[in-house]
Amino acid sequence: MSSNSKVFTLDEVAKHNRKNDCWIIVSGKVYDVTPFLNDHPGGDLVILSATEKDATFEFEVVDHSESAIEDMQKYYVGEFETNTLPAEVDNTHNSPPPFRQADAPSTSNQSSGLVLKILKYLLPLLILASAYALQYYGKSSEPSES
Ligand code: HEM
Repeated sequence: MSSNSKVFTLDEVAKHNRKNDCWIIVSGKVYDVTPFLNDHPGGDLVILSATEKDATFEFEVVDHSESAIEDMQKYYVGEFETNTLPAEVDNTHNSPPPFRQADAPSTSNQSSGLVLKILKYLLPLLILASAYALQYYGKSSEPSES
């Protein structure tokens, strides 16, 4: 798909920064999310505030579901010319380099997400196990009635 795709520069994408004309850049791809803004579960403002820049970090930090990522493909309009992002976009020349996909904390996000998911299931089991243990311990230490 990428070979025939249109390639957009930051300036081109940045023109679409309004509620009735809204494009975002995520992972080197450009999406026209105008028809989806009102339906976005995270609200329209969060997406509008991610226009005119590479929104990969903002998108990934939410840990969007597989179905959200699938859904997103409906709004694909082309590739993003990543080298139009450089520091000169910002007029303070001391600013840090723009966010690159390789810097995405996605692996650590995923692993902490996994730990949370495991904990979610393990915790009730642990509580149940200690309740049983207490019950047995309580019974065996009760004085026998005979
Ligand atoms: C085409 C692009 C996008 C699609 C299709 C999309 C889809 C979704 C969906 C389906 C959800 C519900 C949770 C889930 O299933 O993951 C969600 C939540 C959310 N999204 Fe997006 N999203 C998009 C872009 C973005 C962007 C660019 C941002 C940030 C700049 C963002 C921020 C959020 C936030 C903050 C939530 C709420 C999370 C919560 O409250 O649990 N989304 N999005």
